[in-house]
This record gives sequence, structure tokens and C-alpha cells, in this order.
Amino acid sequence: MNNLIITIDGPAGAGKTTIARMVAEKLGCKYIDTGAMYRAVTLKVLASGVSFSDIPEIEEIVEKTDIEVDFNGSDMLIYLDGREVSDDIRKAEVTENTSFTAAIPGVRYKLQKIQRRSAEKFNKTVFEGRDMGSIVFPKADLKIYLDAGIKERARRRWQELNSKGEDVSLDLLTQKIKERDERDESRGLAPLIVPENAVKIDSTDMELKEVVGKIVALLDR
Ligand code: DC
Repeated sequence: MNNLIITIDGPAGAGKTTIARMVAEKLGCKYIDTGAMYRAVTLKVLASGVSFSDIPEIEEIVEKTDIEVDFNGSDMLIYLDGREVSDDIRKAEVTENTSFTAAIPGVRYKLQKIQRRSAEKFNKTVFEGRDMGSIVFPKADLKIYLDAGIKERARRRWQELNSKGEDVSLDLLTQKIKERDERDESRGLAPLIVPENAVKIDSTDMELKEVVGKIVALLDR
């Protein structure tokens, strides 16, 4: 099958999900937020009460876990064992613990398999995450590494949470994003890196539309 795959990797808060959704809308295809899959597993681990340091137990849990994605218009929905958890996975407790789940081999193995299967199912897809261009789809048609300055990334997250009525300190948010990036970049397995042949885009001073236009133009080239 002649699949089209675009990958967007980058640190937390760089705008990957929004950009992936907009690029997919423009191209008339699907986007997959792979962070949502890691978050769904984390939600299950939290509910089970198992410690994040109990790797064999978490690997056993993930083995018996069903993760699926579906779409409501252009929005991706995520299902955990048949239950839609698209909102639950955005809770602060999940956000803070997902980088622990994401460092576990059995978790990555299972989710990477689901991601590759999705590429075949949807045929033309924008995948966003941390290891899309480096590990999961090294032969993607176009690889993007989307970045933005830490202050701007924290400001965007703060704005997002604030619009939902959540009262958080910008300083604390900046600190937490830095810690998560550090864990994602330093883990031994599939760390966040700039994939080989990826085009780097710094979105600090760019409008969303500009970033989308640049990615679509790169694809046309
Ligand atoms: O993009 P996000 O904030 O929803 O990602 C949640 C966590 O999952 C974050 O710590 C990075 C991790 N992740 C990963 O390790 N690999 C991916 N492909 C996607 C996300």
C-alpha cells in the first residue's frame, strides 16, 4: 500500500497536536496524537493503584489493555478498553505521570504496534509525538521537528488551562514542562531527538497558519 505519512515530533507545548490537526484538515486526512495513547495507559495505571516503578506489573497491565482511536469530525477520540477517555487523559495527574509510563519498554512496544497499524488503516496520516520520525516511521514522507522557546510553550499551556478555568502559576508550569522534557529527552528508549532528515520549525514567533502553510509547502516540494 502506498501510504502517506507525515511525522511531527517535538517537546511539550510546541503546538504539535493543533498543527497536526490543521495539516490533516488541509490535506483531507487523519492525524494521530500518540501522546494520547501513552496518557490512556497512564490513566489505567493510576486507576489500578500500581506504582510507576513496578515495571513488570505495568507491562502486564498494558498487555491486557485495548487502546483505539476514532474521529468526531476532525477531532481524534481515544478509547481505553472500550471507554472514551479523551477528556480524562488531560487531567494534571495524568500529564505529570505519563513520562514515567512512556519510558517502559512493554508500553512503547505495544503502542508503537498500534501506531504502525493505524498508518495502514488510515492510509494518509499525520502522526505527532516524540519518536514518530526517529523510531516508528523512519521512512516517513515528511518529518518535522516542531519546537518553540520554553517561555512561549509554558505561556501557551497556561493560556489553555486558564481558558478551562484552571488556576495555575506560570512559573510552576514552566518548571513542570522543563522536568517532563528532561525525562522525555534523557530516557534510554526512544528519547525525544531531532530525527534524521527532519525539518526543524521554531514556532515561537509564528502564527499557527504560517506553520501549517510551511509544512504543506514542504510536502508539495
Ligand atoms: O504530547 P503529550 O504531552 O500528550 O505526551 C504525553 C507524554 O507521552 C510525554 O511525556 C511524552 C510521551 N510521549 C512519548 O514518549 N512518545 C510519543 N510518541 C508521544 C508521547
